[in-house]
Amino acid sequence: MGKVEGLISEMEKAKLVAIMTIPDAKLAIPLANAVLAGGVKIIEITFRNDQAKDALKALQAAKLPVHYGAGTVRTIEQGKTAAEAGAEFMVSPGFNESIVKWALKNNIPFFPGVDSTASIERACDLGLKILKFFPAAELGGPKWLKAVKEPYYDIKFIPTGGVTLENIQEYLQLPNVVALGGSFLAPKDLVQAQKFGDITAICKKAVDIVNSVKK
Ligand code: 3PG
Repeated sequence: MGKVEGLISEMEKAKLVAIMTIPDAKLAIPLANAVLAGGVKIIEITFRNDQAKDALKALQAAKLPVHYGAGTVRTIEQGKTAAEAGAEFMVSPGFNESIVKWALKNNIPFFPGVDSTASIERACDLGLKILKFFPAAELGGPKWLKAVKEPYYDIKFIPTGGVTLENIQEYLQLPNVVALGGSFLAPKDLVQAQKFGDITAICKKAVDIVNSVKK
């Protein structure tokens, strides 16, 4: 199995991606351990502040049994920084053709955000099959995914934006959902307060829901 297929297969199994904007790179390892203790093994560190690079590097050095990638990758420069820090996948909020082309050329799994049939088709033109659906809740959430399922029968989505413990079950039941991403697994206030035990508890609840849907 190639690098891209391997990562996608892990995502399909694990179903949950903890999206984190880390206020201080020193928190990267305790946070990764907190979600890991709750059974969440895929982490996305967003480029929404100047800590992302060092947070990714800390994960690279720690060699924890997690898959980590970079989110909010809006420039090729950020993509290069993330790749150097060992990011296994990258995500962007919108569809940016030049970054997607750069990622494809470098064999990096890249999930650009789409919010319309037009952006889905632009992504399809480049051969992408898995796309981030963002901002999911504002665009109709599961209803939007159901509506695009038939015309885009060969495309799958990672909904993010407004995903919560309350709605993951509904998303997970849809055949065109690969995995779900969100900050709900490590909420901003708990990250700020360094309440790692509370983060672990939320992740455990989410993993229990995933396992109940799989059965
Ligand atoms: C993202 O980067 O996908 C979103 O910011 C996640 O949205 P959420 O904070 O509502 O989970």
